[in-house]
Amino acid sequence: MKILVVGGGGREHAIIKKLKENPAVEEIFALPGNGGIAADAVCTGIGAKDLDGIVAFARENGIDYAVVAPDDPLVLGCVDALEAAGVPCFGPRKNAAIIEGSKVFSKDLMKKYGIPTAAYEVFSDPAEALKYLETAPVPTVVKADGLALGKGVTVAMTREEAFGAVREIMEDKKFGASGDRIVIEEYLEGPEVSVLSFTDGTTLVPMVSSMDHKRAGDGDTGPNTGGMGTIAPNPYYTEAVAAECMEKIFLPTIRAMKTEGREFRGCLYFGLMITKDGSKVIEYNCRFGDPETQVVLPLLESDLLTVMQAVTAGKLAECEVKFRDASACCLVLASAGYPGSYGKGYEITIPENVRHNVYVAGAALKDGKLVTSGGRVLGITAVADTLPEAVKGAYALAEQVTFGNKYFRTDIGRRALDCQRQKSQGL
Ligand code: AMP
Ligand code: GLY
Repeated sequence: MKILVVGGGGREHAIIKKLKENPAVEEIFALPGNGGIAADAVCTGIGAKDLDGIVAFARENGIDYAVVAPDDPLVLGCVDALEAAGVPCFGPRKNAAIIEGSKVFSKDLMKKYGIPTAAYEVFSDPAEALKYLETAPVPTVVKADGLALGKGVTVAMTREEAFGAVREIMEDKKFGASGDRIVIEEYLEGPEVSVLSFTDGTTLVPMVSSMDHKRAGDGDTGPNTGGMGTIAPNPYYTEAVAAECMEKIFLPTIRAMKTEGREFRGCLYFGLMITKDGSKVIEYNCRFGDPETQVVLPLLESDLLTVMQAVTAGKLAECEVKFRDASACCLVLASAGYPGSYGKGYEITIPENVRHNVYVAGAALKDGKLVTSGGRVLGITAVADTLPEAVKGAYALAEQVTFGNKYFRTDIGRRALDCQRQKSQGL
């Protein structure tokens, strides 16, 4: 089989490595891929948002199956375009990807179907939003309606911060048309859990739970990033929480989407907060998370391509999806300065014995050498029987990879380990 994977980050590298485990896979093309992915797939340089280019490539190269991984092409309708060209795809169609593409849509969906989430108001007029904020409780959360490279959310601890966020999004148009409308929502507290799921629109199978670490600095300080590391499974996601989420959130969400005529097929990502009043949805993503995928897929025991094809065919109920009873930790090695400005072009050395564990996110090939080209350069994942071993293993591997300006958090997994310790002491 010839497979096409749209995207070019660590998540896509993890998907590609997993797909390659199936012997029926002859060739994988990454659109665009990156310098590190080039070791595992043919990288094409065709951009993930170039729908015409993607469809033309699929036609010319006799692609049998496509996986569309990033949010932008999904929201733009990449799956619809490929399907129209006769290429079966993993990923939601445009009318279902809106669950991530519009926060107003997802909040209204949850309200209509009684799915637990933070209370909210929607505004399309900045003056009205600012007036509302004069008396709204703080902290509060301001969210741009549309996609904003993961930067559209401000958790405002003060009224001034909230005013600033509204002005930036709606008046300065920091995220363009994504900020034509905003959601202002109730501030929730509690541990966060990411749950990725496979769903064909009727059946939903949650993957192993995970925990992201979004802030740049140790102790969850500094600016928000795309994610500095992940662990799986997430110890806050107990069996009781899992059962509650399945009954009150996961199944109601896919049923709601079906009822709305927007059947969701692909990976549906639930960003959850476990609050005192139960589990609530913080956000939906219409795709695999990054860097959650880099801990979730290494724990998948079943064949990824088989599961994906079952999702596409609407036959997930007939497919076994098994995860290893083990733990994983992914450390993101970044360029110092990220998510602000940072230097690029430093040579990366990855010893042979570590290659298997590395998912490259921001690197290019220059004169045959791999050099840094992005803020998040690569992720390193260790899998072990226990979480403490996985965390230790990932840090040991990270020491062996070198490049100029290398930066990583030194406390990935600490909260999870504390939670595990407390649980084992019956606290
Ligand atoms: P997002 O960009 O949607 O992933 O949101 C970024 C982060 O903002 C989330 O991971 C949460 O930590 C935080 N956040 C979003 N919504 C809320 C909320 N209603 N209350 C508290 N924190 C929130
Ligand atoms: N790691 C969060 C996301 O993929 O949106």
